[in-house]
Amino acid sequence: MRKKLVAGNWKMNTTADEAVKLAKEIKARLTGFNGAELLICPPYINLIPVHKVIEKSVIKLGSQDLYYEKSGAFTSGISGEMLKSAGCHYVIVGHSERRAIFGDTDELINKKLQAALGIGLIPILCIGEKLEDREAGLTEKVIESQLDGALMGFPTDWMSNMVIGYEPVWAIGTGKTATPEQAESSHKFIREKLTRDFGNQVADELTILYGGSVNSDNSDALIAENNIDGFLVGGASLKAESFEKIARSASK
Ligand code: PGA
Repeated sequence: MRKKLVAGNWKMNTTADEAVKLAKEIKARLTGFNGAELLICPPYINLIPVHKVIEKSVIKLGSQDLYYEKSGAFTSGISGEMLKSAGCHYVIVGHSERRAIFGDTDELINKKLQAALGIGLIPILCIGEKLEDREAGLTEKVIESQLDGALMGFPTDWMSNMVIGYEPVWAIGTGKTATPEQAESSHKFIREKLTRDFGNQVADELTILYGGSVNSDNSDALIAENNIDGFLVGGASLKAESFEKIARSASK
């Protein structure tokens, strides 16, 4: 069964106090919720205090990134094992901001995915085209090459522990969300490619999230599409009220 998932990517927001407060508010609003899996991804430094707040709740903890090495002289690096020990279940890998600002390549993303899977974290692999790609008619080509690079050499059984996030770069933080038709068309393309590469079962069961200016006004229409299984939410996940609304919308 394909699971529904609503994930909040807090990006570089929240001090320790703010993170604890936001986590408490989200927990209070969503106690007992079971319409979708819920995930929040605070900055590294706030993982442990947030974990203390949510550990006995329905909300799971995720990280926004990891480094692929296990330990050693990698100043500022955070390993999968550290994330697990901090209470993480999930880790976002290959977010477009990591790619554009920090230089994450498909090759590095491939290694990070392997490290996450190896330690039992569920990676959320982010892919998506830039505006100039879409305008040049290259959306599917870009998605295909990001998937090929990120998943190179992956055996089929690894794919059952992964989530994919389709996030068109032009829609992230811009207020310009993809239309349900645009999003569905890319999600369908991703699922068809996964069918070709890994078979029907993997493709049918893999959760594919949409991300890019998701809010409580557009989430109903997006989730109504066949191949959209939930959301990766940035800005709107920083307010408990809108995160709750989006979560409830995903469970419809
Ligand atoms: P946004 O960010 O919802 O603020 O557009 C989404 C994301 O980058 O994951």
